[in-house]
Amino acid sequence: MRKDVRILLVGEPKVGKTSLIMSLVSEEFPDVVPYRVEEITIPADVTPERVPTHIVDYSEAEQTDEQLFQEISKANVICIVYAVNNKKSIEKVTNHWIPLITENTDKDSRVPLILVGNKSDLVEHSSMETILPIMNQYSEVETCVECSAKNLKNISELFYYAQKAVLHPTGPLYCPEKKD
Ligand code: GTP
Ligand code: MG
Repeated sequence: MRKDVRILLVGEPKVGKTSLIMSLVSEEFPDVVPYRVEEITIPADVTPERVPTHIVDYSEAEQTDEQLFQEISKANVICIVYAVNNKKSIEKVTNHWIPLITENTDKDSRVPLILVGNKSDLVEHSSMETILPIMNQYSEVETCVECSAKNLKNISELFYYAQKAVLHPTGPLYCPEKKD
């Protein structure tokens, strides 16, 4: 049995990473947030899978690339957050974040990724049409979820999926055909 789960949130500035973490912890949307919150640890008995869970925020404004790479290599699961109303933040998932994570993780250990579309309160239609092809293309992507830190939609689900991706991964652990 694993002793704990380390979840890292990355993504473009202003997509709502810090707000998501604070909404989870306080069960209400924070009007004002710092760039980055300190790592928080959720005790085993209040997590769905009964495993102590660390949630780690990232902010380009406060951290160096080196610090980011270190956090990437320490993470057990990484949530790549985009904003559903921000096309550029979605494009960055494939042209920046996934390659960056691949470069900074051990080739033989698969770190599951979760694609998180935040700010669902701001749009009428879903981003899934754009996201599903990404899920199909990258075997590391375990699942995707649309949520809103503002109206607390799918927040606890998001962290549950992240825990589950580590404890009960569904994808292949190693994909020989994909390597060259
Ligand atoms: P950096 O730390 O700069 O990388 O940004 P971040 O990804 O941590 O985003 P942050 O949590 O600071 O949120 C950025 C802005 O988006 C703030 O004004 C938030 O109030 C707003 N915001 C965050 N989540 C939501 C959401 O679900 N809905 C809406 N409407 N606004 C949100
Ligand atoms: Mg932040």
